[in-house]
Amino acid sequence: MEKTALGPMPYMSIMPILLVGALVKEKPNYMTAAWASVACMAPPMVCVALNRSRYTLKGIEENGTFSLNVPSAKGVTEADYCGIVSGVVKDKSTVYTSFFGKLGTAPMSKECPVNLECRVFQSLECGSHILYIGEVIEVYADRECVTDGKPDVNKVNPLVYSQTTYWKIGEEVAKAFSAGKNYVNW
Ligand SMILES: Cc1cc2nc3c(=O)[nH]c(=O)nc-3n(C[C@H](O)[C@H](O)[C@H](O)COP(=O)(O)O)c2cc1C
Repeated sequence: MEKTALGPMPYMSIMPILLVGALVKEKPNYMTAAWASVACMAPPMVCVALNRSRYTLKGIEENGTFSLNVPSAKGVTEADYCGIVSGVVKDKSTVYTSFFGKLGTAPMSKECPVNLECRVFQSLECGSHILYIGEVIEVYADRECVTDGKPDVNKVNPLVYSQTTYWKIGEEVAKAFSAGKNYVNW
């Protein structure tokens, strides 16, 4: 297959949709983020890239804490709203019902079936965006979304982001750490 150069861009084929929760001036604020991933296994860490202009960033800097909340597909309207309206112009504290965990300063959404409570481990100034690496202090999940002690993707029904569109998880293709065993030269 012939390749074509598309120019440099932070391309990822798919991304998770998350709500970054932070307490700004003592009020919960949530912003939509797709530029997020796992950063470390032990200790457990995640990371998210925030543009310098985000209101949420003020809260993260203020408290050194934040949360990542996983919305389900049925919560797409609220999730998108938090991505098109800034806390600078609109109070977003009532979009979700907030609860607090061990850190006390990272608001989490009751409506989102999975919540990660994080303490900032490091922040990395990359340019337009600051990459926040957070140590996961606790994970909360709706009881009915848990199978064998872990959030169950079929029950959580998370949103996937690609090509300016929200998607649902599709069909299972194969088992990871297993399909490769069928490689012809195994
Ligand atoms: C689908 C989607 C994904 C987004 N991902 C990010 C992201 O990863 N990082 C970021 O800084 N902004 C991202 N944004 C933009 C912010 O969510 C948006 O600017 C929001 O209004 C910021 O809210 P705040 O100013 O209250 O923090 C995204 C928006 C949408 C709709």
